[in-house]
Formats: sequence, structure tokens, C-alpha cells
Amino acid sequence: MYSPKETIELQKASEKLLKHPSNFDFTAKNLDSLKAVLRFHEYRYYVQNDPMVSDFEYDQLYKALEKIEKENPELVTANSPTQRVATVLTKTFNTVQHLVPMLSLENSYNAEDLLDWDRKAKDLSKLSEVEYCVEPKFDGASISLIYENDALVRAATRGNGIEGDEITTNIRQIRSVPLSANFSKYNIHQIEIRGEVLLTKANFKKYNDALAEQNIPPLANPRNAAAGSLRIKDPAEVRRRNLEAFLYHVSYFTLIDDEEIPEELQSHAGALQLLWSLGFRSPEKEKMVVKGIEAVITYCQQFEEGRDQLPYEIDGMVIKVNNVELQDRMGMTTHHPRWAIAYKFKARQATSKLKSVEFQVGRTGSITPVAKIDPVPIGGVTVGSISLFNEDVIREKDLMIGDTVLVERAGDVIPYIVKSLADARTGNEKKILFPSNCPVCKDVLVKVEEEAAWRCNNINCEAQVVERMIHFTSKDAMDIRGFGDANIKKFFELKFLHDIPGIYTLPFEKIQQREGFGEKSITNLQTAIENSKTQPIHRLIFALGIRFVGETTAKTLAQTVKHILEFEKFSVEELQVLEDIGPKVANSIYQFFHNDDNILMLQKLESLGVQLANKKRASLSGSILDGQTFLFTGSLPTLKRSDAEEMVEQNGGKLLGSVSSKLNYLVVGEDAGSKLEKAKKISSVKIISEADFLHLLRK
Ligand code: IVH
Repeated sequence: MYSPKETIELQKASEKLLKHPSNFDFTAKNLDSLKAVLRFHEYRYYVQNDPMVSDFEYDQLYKALEKIEKENPELVTANSPTQRVATVLTKTFNTVQHLVPMLSLENSYNAEDLLDWDRKAKDLSKLSEVEYCVEPKFDGASISLIYENDALVRAATRGNGIEGDEITTNIRQIRSVPLSANFSKYNIHQIEIRGEVLLTKANFKKYNDALAEQNIPPLANPRNAAAGSLRIKDPAEVRRRNLEAFLYHVSYFTLIDDEEIPEELQSHAGALQLLWSLGFRSPEKEKMVVKGIEAVITYCQQFEEGRDQLPYEIDGMVIKVNNVELQDRMGMTTHHPRWAIAYKFKARQATSKLKSVEFQVGRTGSITPVAKIDPVPIGGVTVGSISLFNEDVIREKDLMIGDTVLVERAGDVIPYIVKSLADARTGNEKKILFPSNCPVCKDVLVKVEEEAAWRCNNINCEAQVVERMIHFTSKDAMDIRGFGDANIKKFFELKFLHDIPGIYTLPFEKIQQREGFGEKSITNLQTAIENSKTQPIHRLIFALGIRFVGETTAKTLAQTVKHILEFEKFSVEELQVLEDIGPKVANSIYQFFHNDDNILMLQKLESLGVQLANKKRASLSGSILDGQTFLFTGSLPTLKRSDAEEMVEQNGGKLLGSVSSKLNYLVVGEDAGSKLEKAKKISSVKIISEADFLHLLRK
């Protein structure tokens, strides 16, 4: 897409603009250059995954463009980076017809299937060896894009293959999809491109974590999340989900000048290359062109082995005859092309028997039904317990004890029950009875209108007390390693531990006498407890387990005060002014800080040495890393990347998005890649380890 020379020029232009964003002197020509710079950074970030500016710098440029366009609306063009954002809600999605039917693919499951298919391909083509292009089968939602005169004019879902929903506005929110692309350079007037929209595993997790914060059952897998996202009526929400789009097939095109069919479109690999060169995220880097089926099989197996390391889900590979003329000769059946086949990876689904349902009490009192199934291996893990989230899920899925159920476990995602197989019922299945009393303290369960969960409202319910302590010590909260669920439960049963402050007054002399507690494990636990006292206060806020307050909200809250107890003085209205805090969350925070027991607990924690004051706000001036720039690469041995980045900012340092002469420190972890190589070439960049980094902070 961008030659090295263009890259350097655009980066220089970008640096120049960043130096003087406020007095950026616009003329139509300068404005084009600002847009070109922004498009370039979008491409580096979303297509290449290798940004050259930090998010902050990008935002500055973006805001400069927004400002100019606001003052001069006549200068706004449809392909301006600002024009992705739509604020108007979609009422209904119009049905549109695809230029060419969107067929599905024939499936294969093993080497024999592929050998059979290759034999047919050789017969049909009369060749002794066929050239194939092999690429991942992306597990998302399929889309079709139409570009006319270089502009994106329409995007649609697959629908029934003949007609789909028009979703142009939503697709414009996906920043790796170019709003315009130089097809005319290839003599192309109109082109229809097929692809797949997906959510990376990381974004999917982020999304589900946010749902969990609101006690909403998570989405089952990234595929469903992507499909659902395309049909959201609020484009801003679509944008927030950070979807990705891989474009892998040119299904139709017309030419400007009928004489010249671009050479690139005569092979599938050429088409992928053409799309890549125009700024699309095609599987250019993932694909492989090979001769003969043996090499295809090897490549498929290699990819299957590395599947878990990919940042997104794939459910197989797609093998395509590379030569387009040969594709046309081979033609299609009513359902699928004969020139392509899917090679499906081993299923991450299995069937099993639903033996029983247990009801667990969470730290906020919500009752979660958990299905116990006959343990089955799925994708390398044995699954025996599956959360059913709430009563509605049981009803919607029509689950009964004794049912045969279909279970799926996608990658890192927690397993879930897809459905029960009603046809396999014998008549001996039993209804699942939701309890009316708390399974632990026997209090009557209540259900608030509009909420899916039944709840035990006894905050002294032993199950809740234990769950709150487990949450308090967990990795993303106070991170007290060496505790674990089992020890907390054990200490609670032995009456060594009654409540959260009790964590800091554990009777170690008694614990020492119990079997299973060696000197070393005790010292480790003591150190972890001691270290937790100085955790940043956003961790403590999260650790308190306030309803609806997840890690993100905890960070927002932490940035607001110098001391946690200041929240005693906040009104619901004042809380609602904070970023992303709505009435429900504000109310819950208000309730928490207006409960005497909670305040007493916080005071007790403080008297035991736990830090309730905000170190970050107290030490903003004269910070150790003042003005120094940092970038992290590779996986760090002990720190979470987000924590390390926060430490930089807390201490007055700045984070950069890429390696350049502006970078002071590159902190290198394991498996560092191109950033390290680049940094080695710039003598002013100091390459340091995590230990060096921590040392800098201690200075
Ligand atoms: S090619 C006419 N390539 O898999 C050929 N499809 O089961 C069009 N898919 O409907 C399809 N990755 O949604 C092709 N690299 C890839 C793909 C891919 C995922 C999806 C696509 C299709 C389905 C077929």
C-alpha cells in the first residue's frame, strides 16, 4: 500500500503537523495532506498492526481535522476519516440483492477428503498437478462490499446468499475497511469483494468483561459477537466494538476500459495482493500458494497446530484453485463452487449428558446455575462444569436433567451449552427446579424486575463473605498470590479468617501448625499480603466488589479522588458526571459508600496499613520519569502490560506507539519482534529489561 518512500514522507508530514497542530494553516491542499496522514495511520494501526504514532498523537491529528471541517463544512468529503462516525441510529436495515450469489463452501475434515477433492480437480482441469492458494477460514460473519469509482458504496450481510441486509454505515465504523481505494489504477470501475468481519479474541474478552461488570450473560463466542455487531442500530456502539474485517475474494468486477483485465485478477493470490496493495486487510501474509495437494495438507496441519496462538479465531482453512480461468471452467454446483473447499479443524464442540445443576452464590448474592455434565474433552481441555448464568438461559435453551447437550469451547473462551438435543430425549428427563431459598444461608431468594438473576440479599451469607474475599485477593484485584480459593475457604472454615480486614491479621502461628503449610509457602503468602498493602487504589476499589464496578470503572473512580473515603461525600449526581458511569452504577457506588459497615471495613484496612490514598495524584509533580518516553514489546516476565504502562504514566513518563528517534526506552520482554530490531538501529533508544525498568522507578 505505502512504499518505504511514501511511508517516510507521510511520517515526516505527520511529525510536522504534530509539532504545530494548533496553527496548522489549512487550504484544501493541506487538508488533503492531513487526511492522507490520518488514513496512513489508520492503515498502520488497523491493517498492519504496527502503528507509528501513539493513540494520543493520532487523536490530536484527528481533532485538528474535525476542527477545520467544523469551521468549513464545505471541505468535508465522504472519504474523510471523520466521516466514518455516524451519530444517527439505523431504523431498519434494507434488503439488497448481491451482485453474485454468496455461496457457501463444501467441507472436508481430513487428508483423505482433500485427496478426493484434488482428484476431482485434476480430472476437471486435465492437469497432473493443480496450483492452490491456501488461507485461513475466518470464523466470523460474512460480508460483501461494493466499490464504485473508487468509493465504498454498499456493504451487506450474507443473508440467505441471494439477498442480505444493507449495513454500509456499520461497516464504515471498521477502521481497516478503506472508505475509498484506488481501484481505477487497475482499470476497475465497480468491484464486489467478499470477506469476514470478526472480533479478535482480546476484544471479545474485553467486551464480555464489560458485560460481566453489568451482570449481563456474556456472548457465547467471537463469531456470534461479530454477527450480532453487524446488526446493531447504533453505529457508535459498532465502532466501540473494534471489529476487524478480512477481505478474501473478488466475486465480481466491471472495467473502465474493456480492453484490459488487470493481470492481478487472473489468479486468486493476485487478487489478494491487489486488495492488500490498496489498503485492505486481505490474508496476503497468511496465505500460501502451493503446487499439489500434499503441500496443502501440510500447510493446513501447521496452521491447525498454531491456531491458539492467532489473535483471532479460525475454524479451518480454505483451499482455492489459484488460476481464475480454471476456476471458471470448473464452475459450481447449486450450493458451492467446485474450485474451493473448506478444511475444517477438529471441532471444539462435543455432546455430553447433563447430570445435574448446582446453584452457586456469587459475591454480590446472585445465584448462578452451573451445569454438571459427564466430563468430555474439547479442544484439549476436559469440561465437566458449565455456567448457565441465570434462570432465563435454562428456559431459553429448554434444558432438562438427563438431556444430551451440545457443548462448545472456542479457544480461550469459557465453555457453554449451545443447545439440548430434544430428539435424543427418552422421556426420563427431569425438569430443573430453581431453588426459592439460598442454598447456603437459606434466606428467601428475590428477583428485582428487569434483572435476570435471583439474589440472596443476606450480605452476611457465608457464601458471599467467602466469595468477596476470593475476589479481593484475586489476580486483577489485590493480587495476593498464594491465597487461592481453596485456602480462603479452608481458613474460613477453620475460623482463622472472617472478613476482608482479617486477611491482614491472619494467625500465622496457628496456620503454621496445620499440615500442608510449609515455611516457604507461609513466607510467600506473608510477602504477598504485605505487598498488596501498597497496590494502586484502583485495584483496591475493584477489589471491594462493588456491584457493577469492574476494572474500568474502578480506574475512573481512582482518578477522581486523593483518598478513597472521599466518596462518602459524593452524591449520585456527582458520580454520574464521571466517564461511563450511568445512574445504575452511580447508585450502586453511592449505596456502598453510605453503608456504615463498608466504611468501617475501609477504616480498618487503613489502620492495618492498606493504602487508601491515591499515590498517583499525590505525586504528580516532580515525577521520576518526567518527560521520558517508553514503549513495551514482548511479554514481560512479571508485570501485566497494562500495569507497566500505567506505572509509566503514573510517574510522569509518556507512552509511544512505535519505535522512532523520539523513543527513550524500549522495555523488552520475551519473544520481542520487529520493534526490538528497529530499536537496535537507533542508537539513542535505550533497550532495557523489565528489571531495569523497575530499577528506574525505584531511583
Ligand atoms: S471463500 C465463493 N475464503 O466460510 C467462495 N470463505 O462455509 C466464497 N469464510 O460463506 C467463500 N474464511 O463466510 C472464503 N478465506 C475464506 C473464508 C471464507 C471464512 C467463510 C465465508 C463462507 C463460509 C463458507
